[in-house]
Amino acid sequence: MAVGVLLIMNISFSNIVLPRTGSLVVAAMEGGALCKTAQEVDKICGGAITRAIKTGRFEGKSEQSLEILSPAGLSVSRVLVVGLGKPADIKPAVAEKAGALIVDRLSMSGEKQVAVAIDEIPKSALKAEAIAAHVAAGALSRSYRFDKYRTKQKESDKPSLTKINVMCGKTSAAKAAYTPLAHVLNGVFAARDLVNEPANTLYPAEFAKRARALSKLGLKVEVLGEAQMAKLGMGALLAVGQGSAQESQLIILKWQGAPKSKKPPVALVGKGVCFDSGGISLKPGAGMGDMKGDMGGAAAVFGAMAALAGRRAKANVIGVLACVENMPGPHAQRPGDIITSMSGQTIEVLNTDAEGRLVLADAMTYVQRKYKPRIVIDLATLTGAIMMALGDGYAGLFSNKDDLAAQIDTAGKAVDEPVWRMPMGMQYDSKIKSKFADMQNIASAPGAGSITAAQFLLRFIENDTPWAHLDIAGVAWTNDAKPSWGRGYGVRLLDRLIADKYEE
Ligand code: BES
Ligand code: MN
Ligand code: ZN
Repeated sequence: MAVGVLLIMNISFSNIVLPRTGSLVVAAMEGGALCKTAQEVDKICGGAITRAIKTGRFEGKSEQSLEILSPAGLSVSRVLVVGLGKPADIKPAVAEKAGALIVDRLSMSGEKQVAVAIDEIPKSALKAEAIAAHVAAGALSRSYRFDKYRTKQKESDKPSLTKINVMCGKTSAAKAAYTPLAHVLNGVFAARDLVNEPANTLYPAEFAKRARALSKLGLKVEVLGEAQMAKLGMGALLAVGQGSAQESQLIILKWQGAPKSKKPPVALVGKGVCFDSGGISLKPGAGMGDMKGDMGGAAAVFGAMAALAGRRAKANVIGVLACVENMPGPHAQRPGDIITSMSGQTIEVLNTDAEGRLVLADAMTYVQRKYKPRIVIDLATLTGAIMMALGDGYAGLFSNKDDLAAQIDTAGKAVDEPVWRMPMGMQYDSKIKSKFADMQNIASAPGAGSITAAQFLLRFIENDTPWAHLDIAGVAWTNDAKPSWGRGYGVRLLDRLIADKYEE
């Protein structure tokens, strides 16, 4: 597999054989019923598992685990019993959580390797090979770390676990089910890397450099600099970047996985504000460092494109990353400035901190005029207001088409990246009328800040193209940093949506 980052954890598949060294993972169901290997192990070690279950709070529920150290009669260092919940409820997400839990429990324990026994579970919603693949994927996802800037890490602070062998009766079927999941995780890791990277090292030109490196996966990569964007009339995107010493870049990634298709491509657009200081409408200091993650939308599109190319998706998809840095300074745009977007529409900039919508506007006009896509989906850490509404539990979904919104909702549920649809309407659109220009970039009255931002974007959708906007400000990063500050949110959702609805 040509995916380098997967080396963070060595994952293999084999038939079920009790290991002699390392740790052993077996499963239990809700109510305490043990899987076949767990029963065998329980017998060998004189009922230690059954006794431990009786004396503790472990009930075999999903996300529960029980550890037995130095089990008598076995040479492994420990047996970890992981709960899978009710057999009928074993969905991919449940198996992935179990895999993540294994890494959580063992990665810092001193243990180097673990063998995970996946038996066929009667009445399970998933076959053993699918459970095995998703357990492996969950474990890989949780193994991600962003330690490149630590120079003084003690050995005891580094993960000890490097090898996971997933044992199941159908090794080749498990491997086949795992491979595309690993490619998608490769995209997720790319997105996490981008979100985690600070703005002094990840500026628009560096983003473009990393995008060009995707050509090794078979993606076509094109980058427009400021001169080319000026020729195209991208006055809105360029206005945001004009206060920065870093050159703005429009990055176009093309995946042609269905070359014979007559259907127009899917377009994905990402907000790539590499740092959002607020500009002249400067943000307060507290928490400003988080604004290195204001390119989370572009990171998600980048990761999704890597995932699609990696698994050779049979779809045609254009990804556009609108990369800028929003800074104050002598060249910065001012509140009150009136700018002309590529669409021809003029915008009165009343707050330079409402910059995401400006860069997305021109990126959306560009992709629609150049590629006439069948749908446009944009992802953006667009508003603080969406965090007020939904916290970190859901991304906000806005759309002009019910069926596209429903497709995105379904995909989000399937991969555990849930979205919540928000309303739109003329009563909100009227709030962005300007005294001087076609529109203004902030609402004239407080309230519904995420919706008025979405109404602004909708004004740049042409010919009633089906469009959806995901406001990911609440979900792009997480403060519990498990396993990573940048979550890579959106990569799996976009990959799943395309797999379900837009592949030939
Ligand atoms: N990048 C921010 C939104 C944001 C805030 C993302 C917190 C993640 C965490 C965006 O550019 C912004 O500043 N939005 C303003 C809009 C306002 C000026 C209308 C906001 O939400 O306050
Ligand atoms: Mn801002
Ligand atoms: Zn921003």
